[in-house]
Amino acid sequence: MTRRSRHGRARPDDRPAAAGASAAKSDAPVIALHGVVKSYGIGDGAVHALRGVDLVVERGDYVAVMGSSGSGKSTLMNIIGCLDVPTDGRYLLDGLDVGVMDERRLSLVRSRRIGFVFQSFNLIPRTSALANVALPLAYAGVRGRERRKRALAALAHVGLADRVDHHPNELSGGQQQRVAVARALVTAPALLLADEPTGNLDSRSTDEVLGIIDRLNDAGRTVLVITHEAEVAERAKRVLRLVDGRVVEDRRQAAVDGPPPALAAAAAPVGVRR
Ligand SMILES: Nc1ncnc2c1ncn2[C@@H]1O[C@H](COP(=O)(O)OP(=O)(O)O)[C@@H](O)[C@H]1O
Ligand SMILES: [Mg+2]
Repeated sequence: MTRRSRHGRARPDDRPAAAGASAAKSDAPVIALHGVVKSYGIGDGAVHALRGVDLVVERGDYVAVMGSSGSGKSTLMNIIGCLDVPTDGRYLLDGLDVGVMDERRLSLVRSRRIGFVFQSFNLIPRTSALANVALPLAYAGVRGRERRKRALAALAHVGLADRVDHHPNELSGGQQQRVAVARALVTAPALLLADEPTGNLDSRSTDEVLGIIDRLNDAGRTVLVITHEAEVAERAKRVLRLVDGRVVEDRRQAAVDGPPPALAAAAAPVGVRR
């Protein structure tokens, strides 16, 4: 692409889609939460799902969020994904203050900058894998032929080139989740959010889906994955632990700008320990 900013420099969102990012301010962290509080209800009956979360996530990081049921993980992901708004505090996404955006802006931000993967796949039944993956492009106003081309490429990327005409009920759980991952990446979002993506998968499908997520991170996407499972968290570069709406642990396992741990291990020469 050759679009340039007024100053003649290539803008960050002019990078090829495969490299994965569309950022407003390339120097700003992808995610910056400042004192984020989320409460449901008021007074004595209020539930405090998040009690003041400060969190900065750099571009290219791969963050696992762990914590027991009810600790606030999904609430955190919904706020980061602009599906919900904080009760208090600030959230900057790519340096842009989400708090001042109206619903129309928010839905644009969601569809252009963020890809979502859920535990239960959330595919549309009786609709081909291809049509499921192409749907976000239809919302984004991409034309029919281009939609088909990009959706086919995304399905090939997750190893499902030979299943594009299958409906969800004709696919295994692992294949359905790979369709969901293809749908999440077809718009080339800079940020991939996954809430228990392997919660409904057997161990082989878990490995396949995590391998794809590893490679997406290695290609430059920022990944935030919510998980109960230690084997999922092991693959992240950074692990956060939530207890009762607060971040109580923040542990780095690998450098932001290096490969994710599983890929680094696979690339290490035999006998060399990392
Ligand atoms: N829409 C809601 N209304 C009321 N309480 C909610 C709502 N969503 C979540 N909660 C409460 O907020 C807390 C955190 O929930 P959640 O973020 O779903 O936790 P997790 O994903 O870690 O299991 C829980 O106590 C939950 O019951
Ligand atoms: Mg949850």
